[in-house]
Amino acid sequence: MTPVAPVGPHPLHHAAPLPPFDLVIFGGSGDLALRKLLPALFHRYRDGQIVDGTRIVGIARDARSDDDYREQVRLALAAEAEKEAGGTAALADFLKLLRYQRLDLANDGGWEEFSTSMRSEQRVRVFYLAVAPQLFAQAAQQLDKWKLIDADTRVVVEKPIGTDRASADAINDALGHVFAERQIFRIDHYLGKETVQNLTALRFGNALFEPLWRAEHIDHVQITVGETVGVEGRAPYYDRAGALRDMVQNHLLQLLCLVAMEPPTSLDADAIRDEKLKVLRALRPIDNANAAQLVVRGQYRGGAAEGRAVSGYADELGRGSNTETFVALKAEVRSWRWAGVPFYLRTGKRLPSRVSEIVVTFRQVPHSIFEGVSELAPNRLVLRLQPDESVTMWLMNKVPGPGGLRLRHVPMDLSFAEAFGGRQADAYERLLMDVVRGNPMLFMRRDEVEAAWKWIDPIRAAWESSNEAPKPYTAGTWGPSAAVALIERDGRTWHEDAA
Ligand code: BG6
Repeated sequence: MTPVAPVGPHPLHHAAPLPPFDLVIFGGSGDLALRKLLPALFHRYRDGQIVDGTRIVGIARDARSDDDYREQVRLALAAEAEKEAGGTAALADFLKLLRYQRLDLANDGGWEEFSTSMRSEQRVRVFYLAVAPQLFAQAAQQLDKWKLIDADTRVVVEKPIGTDRASADAINDALGHVFAERQIFRIDHYLGKETVQNLTALRFGNALFEPLWRAEHIDHVQITVGETVGVEGRAPYYDRAGALRDMVQNHLLQLLCLVAMEPPTSLDADAIRDEKLKVLRALRPIDNANAAQLVVRGQYRGGAAEGRAVSGYADELGRGSNTETFVALKAEVRSWRWAGVPFYLRTGKRLPSRVSEIVVTFRQVPHSIFEGVSELAPNRLVLRLQPDESVTMWLMNKVPGPGGLRLRHVPMDLSFAEAFGGRQADAYERLLMDVVRGNPMLFMRRDEVEAAWKWIDPIRAAWESSNEAPKPYTAGTWGPSAAVALIERDGRTWHEDAA
């Protein structure tokens, strides 16, 4: 592809430096901090967006020195840093921004000293609660009690926001008690993924798609988020969550919203979130009456994944469980634009490949003049989120050369990654910097979280009342056969790149 001149500055390569800020990570030595947050901050430092003078504080309950903490972070980031020239030296400089604070949310020890040191600077202060949601309320109370919240303070919370509508309300109330809604950043890291943002750019930056983006021209939409990993060390959390709460309630529904929403009037955070909310509210309810037809849940048994033999979910857990590790469902958005267009959603652990994609399948041509020559496949727009981010349009094309008029479905690459070049930033990089800048566009507003739970809760209730166990599937396959039947009943198939 011929490189094109980017329109406007490249968001990563021209990231404006931010004034020094404070970022405090509760759960500073946890998995999320070491695997996602600190690497993301390091890259933003390396690109000059985070400047010296910024303070990054890791918080945990055990005793350790700043140097111990820096060493732990250095070990976690070393391999990543070594990938780039000068990375190791940059990492050494980055570590100087870090400090450690021992704090327990349940008691006051250390809080006074911590508060005094934080309040010594008047600047943007971000508290990232990378801890279990049961601790969010306590954290909010302590921050308030120790006078750490002012107009420039922001709080970031990870999903899951609760386990159902009622518990989400309790968390949101506790946060809302001490923070204004504009200060609360509910992260859904899928919204920070490059291709997900490109969906908005494609839909609303081009005149081409919008006239076609409706029931008259779109046959159906598929959203697949497949993972090869099992639940690993997260079983205690995962067994209480399951795929519906862990992935569908947030990531998959957010993707559905971005595909289905009406054009917002601007990029203003509320303009976009208002449109997403309308989609969530327009979803056809799934409950006792129709869950058996519209939803399939599964749980993996032993099999082969990631090139080796792996145990089943119950074996990993050490006991039987009715928690689903796979969900496929057929959703419908009840609106003029989408009437009758199914949205098939599918996600699971221990699937054959780690692939996440949104596939928009257009309708067949109304009449084929090529009868007897070859079968016409419908156009498909495939937005691949991972592993390799890309946008592809599948078109019918003539096979070049002699031999009559032969047609073939071929992919046209609409992906500009090559032209823009450089490293692909992780979603957390953008999201963390948006928090510091105070831009909530890519974060979930309270009413979105509520609307999502309102749709999810009756599905869970239907499962609970049915007493049916999740359908087994062998690790390394695309879920129970019922998931294939779900879409094939409608005369459609899962997109073959993913299936
Ligand atoms: C998290 C889920 O939100 O997303 C995990 O809790 C899941 O279970 C992860 O593995 C997937 O994220 P990504 O970016 O690797 O697709």
